[in-house]
Amino acid sequence: MDVFDVAILGDGRWHADSLTRAFARLGLEARRLRWVDLRLDATAPGGIAGPFAALPRAVVVRGMPGGSFERITLRLGLLRALEAAAVFVANPPRAIEACTDKSETSLVLRRAGLPTPDFWCCESGAAARLVAAREASPQRPLVAKPLFGAQGRGLRLICGPDDLPGEEEVAGVWYLQRYVERPGWFDLRLFVVDGRVVAAMRRENGHWITNVHQGGRGVGITAPPELAGSAVAAARALGTFFAGVDVAVDVQGRPWILEVNAMPAWKALQAASGVDVAAELAAAVARRIGAAP
Ligand SMILES: Nc1ncnc2c1ncn2[C@@H]1O[C@H](COP(=O)(O)OP(=O)(O)OP(=O)(O)O)[C@@H](O)[C@H]1O
Ligand SMILES: [Mg+2]
Repeated sequence: MDVFDVAILGDGRWHADSLTRAFARLGLEARRLRWVDLRLDATAPGGIAGPFAALPRAVVVRGMPGGSFERITLRLGLLRALEAAAVFVANPPRAIEACTDKSETSLVLRRAGLPTPDFWCCESGAAARLVAAREASPQRPLVAKPLFGAQGRGLRLICGPDDLPGEEEVAGVWYLQRYVERPGWFDLRLFVVDGRVVAAMRRENGHWITNVHQGGRGVGITAPPELAGSAVAAARALGTFFAGVDVAVDVQGRPWILEVNAMPAWKALQAASGVDVAAELAAAVARRIGAAP
């Protein structure tokens, strides 16, 4: 069994290949692993076994596909075990948890004094209806989102209680966020690596959900320093080493941090900004493990 420096966990080909090449340029060997390749094993070094003779020095978590609560719990446990075995894990399991759960993201951002829209989260349909009755109108809508949403799926504009998704659609948890009225249908995605915005884009679409997976088109931008500062602060508040920070700028020009992604994709961002995001991330990880050339 081999020894290699970096494991790229839970990913599709494109990102894993560009990361592998970027690490290779730094003299580090990276290998793509699937979650099923890893197991907790009391007889193995550090309690973790997999297709390696020794634990890698770093793990980059690129994806965590949906699965049962048991699977997710095991995967987070594997990451904690890796950290306990002095493997550098990007992003840390605690940050992945906090970013995946939109309600915790909102709470952490609010506690850190960062601009994020008002939000409500509950597991009572009656309570969600009360919130919608009090807070939502066609002039001031809310947005209902799946708690663990991604790629703009399952978002719904709420102008009153009858617009609320059903219990099954939200798996019994209603997460509601104040809609940010924007001058147009665009938002910003800022990619933060180790305390620095390395690339940014504006995402424009023919409707209010501007994700690339929902038809959004990316245009490279240079983030204004103040906005970059907020994105870096948001990434830090959530405990991430790298993050995709989504920002909506309202009609008064004020930025609102919508969410922070701990496993952000960057294919569209790279195409829009021309920045080699994999190279930025690999260099930062190499610095962290003391392997920067
Ligand atoms: N509160 C809001 N006000 C206005 N527009 C919003 C709001 N929340 C989300 N949107 C729009 O919907 C898009 C998707 O929302 P959000 O990023 O929260 O969802 P997601 O499914 O987690 O996406 P991602 O793939 O980035 O993880 C945003 O990029 C933005 O264009
Ligand atoms: Mg988003």
